[in-house]
Amino acid sequence: MTYISQLASMVGQEVELKGWAYNFRSSGKIYFLQFRDGSGRVQVVYSPQDIDAAQWESLQGVRIESSVIVKGIVKAEPRSPSGFEISGTSFTMVHAAPEDYPIGKKEHGPEFLFENRDLYLRSQTPWAVLRIRDSVFFSIEKFFHEEGFIRFDTPIIQPTSCEDTTQLFQVDYYGEPKYLSQSGQLYSEAGIMAFGKVYDFGPVFRAEKSKTRHHLSELWMMDAEMAYFDQAMNMEVQERMVKRIVKDVLDNCKQELAILERDTTILERIVSEPFVHLKHSEAKKILHDEKLTVEPVDLLGDMSTEEEIALGNKYQLPVFIEDYPAEIKSFYMKRHTDDAGVLRARCADLIAPEEGREIIGGSQREESYEALKQEIIDRDYPLAEYEWYLNTRKYGSVPHSGFGIGLERTVRWITGVHHIRETIAFPRMLNRSTP
Ligand code: 4AD
Ligand code: MG
Repeated sequence: MTYISQLASMVGQEVELKGWAYNFRSSGKIYFLQFRDGSGRVQVVYSPQDIDAAQWESLQGVRIESSVIVKGIVKAEPRSPSGFEISGTSFTMVHAAPEDYPIGKKEHGPEFLFENRDLYLRSQTPWAVLRIRDSVFFSIEKFFHEEGFIRFDTPIIQPTSCEDTTQLFQVDYYGEPKYLSQSGQLYSEAGIMAFGKVYDFGPVFRAEKSKTRHHLSELWMMDAEMAYFDQAMNMEVQERMVKRIVKDVLDNCKQELAILERDTTILERIVSEPFVHLKHSEAKKILHDEKLTVEPVDLLGDMSTEEEIALGNKYQLPVFIEDYPAEIKSFYMKRHTDDAGVLRARCADLIAPEEGREIIGGSQREESYEALKQEIIDRDYPLAEYEWYLNTRKYGSVPHSGFGIGLERTVRWITGVHHIRETIAFPRMLNRSTP
């Protein structure tokens, strides 16, 4: 089979393409078929003298999203976005769609488009965004294999919580409650004791009560975990991974970025310039002293949406925010006391510029059996359910670190789309669980 993506090497030849009519128009005796085949879009131009009469008749029955097979001669056409045009020599209707294709040329609101997401996927914006998503996914897989990691899949049904216990989806099947994974991290920690460096990549679930353009309830996360890595080595891997992701998109997704009208100036800088590092205390001080936010700055609080966006705007580069107060971070993070006497986690969130917000959360892990067990008890977590996890510290504990990157947050930032729902084929959010 021939695809539109291969036309560059076929100018002057006759090709057969199988796909769909996404639009059509007729001017006098000439018929313009707007054709797509999944790999791209091209215009096919038909004149009645060039095809047989029955086929010309059948062409008049085309409606938006009819499936069709076209044949014709490939011509270079600089005025067309694809760079090519086809002079039609043959036409076959595979399935004539009815008149009422719901997504027309008029503007639709996002609710309508996502209610019809199964059809909206065929439009150009989702096509470009989801192809960039595929590129990001593939870059991550390639990066980790080149770095000597192995893919280590972690379970979705889990007896415990990894992150915030208020955001768990409960599963009632085993006689006692289990939960959908919030992150594979705890299992990856067991994995590194067997394999040294591992990553997983799969759906995770957050029963988010927040209805924002940054939150999904089902998202894809890649967790990486490394034995004998401290937090500095952890951040170094993250920076190289993000540079690789961005470089691959810039190199391989030019057409997609053009469709999205993405200004790539900052993305290009990111490939070569070092990322910014700020301690949480420094970041808060800058936000406060330079009055970068409308809301007052809580010096010991989490980073708000407004604060993350303000820091991204200030530096125009990804920013590692390090050493959050331990109290507002997860139980497994290694701790230390700073000069001001505040107990802090040895962690960093990576904030993407251009309103990308937090795309990565990572930390060095507490390696002491006693300290970790005490933290589980202090947080009132069910200790018995964490016995297997504590074995990682009981038998041959090592300093280790890891991180998790949210695929959709990353794709939202790189594509520049407004809302995170655009970055996954069938979004699941607080107010959406269909189609
Ligand atoms: O910061 P989080 O909660 O970190 C963890 O789950 C760690 N266990 C990861 C690890 O160290 N292995 O989540 C990691 C990333 C966030 O930085 C964000 O990109 C994404 O997952 N994320 C979400 N994306 C969309 N919607 C949500 N509700 C998200 N929650 C987290
Ligand atoms: Mg986080």
